[in-house]
Amino acid sequence: MNIAIDGPAGAGKSTIAKLAAKELGFLYVDTGAMYRAIALYLLRKKTPIDDEKALKEALEHIAISIKYEDKQQNVYLNGEDVTGSLREEAVGNMASVSSAKQPVRDKLLSLQRSLAEDNSVIMDGRDIGTNVLPNAELKIYLTASADVRAKRRYDELLSNGEKPDFEKIKADIIKRDEQDMNRKIAPLRQAEDAVYLDTSSLSIPEVVKQIVEWEKERA
Ligand code: DC
Repeated sequence: MNIAIDGPAGAGKSTIAKLAAKELGFLYVDTGAMYRAIALYLLRKKTPIDDEKALKEALEHIAISIKYEDKQQNVYLNGEDVTGSLREEAVGNMASVSSAKQPVRDKLLSLQRSLAEDNSVIMDGRDIGTNVLPNAELKIYLTASADVRAKRRYDELLSNGEKPDFEKIKADIIKRDEQDMNRKIAPLRQAEDAVYLDTSSLSIPEVVKQIVEWEKERA
């Protein structure tokens, strides 16, 4: 039994998926974190990712593994727990660019599928319902307006004591949408059999409740 959640950056997928997984007793799998771990390696090594040979060579030196500690997903890059370094903007922006490359996607597909074979998962990302788990029993396309997504990110940074620039955050979100939706390989789009959920005017508990209800109706 698997649930796929796809949607654009900042739609709240991971917050929602984590809470719904807890309520349903599923394992939460964050595939964005896997792309971010690869991006972190590429940034650290300053790999010229448009050079196909250099990219393939770098990927040969990357081993990504996932461990669940207290039901929390931790991502290991060549044995190092990098979970704490993955949320930075620079890493997210690089992940959006490098995830458009076929060899990068090939590297993660089997890891993602095997997690879903061995467990009941709620997996979030961009291509879960369309590509990674086309047979997922429940598929959700979670979105919100660019303004709302930017505001949520702005508030989060503000509460972390940072001094965010709203217009810059919004521009980054729009750029990321552009890249993730218009790439040739596994672009972000709503699967035909996914339910569309716009969270612009919904609270987190309301969204979680809706997903739990859908899952209970289905089961
Ligand atoms: O969800 P996120 O912001 O952590 O994802 C970071 C980037 O990784 C995102 O901009 C596109 C890419 N990604 C992807 O291509 N496919 C996925 N299933 C998950 C993420």
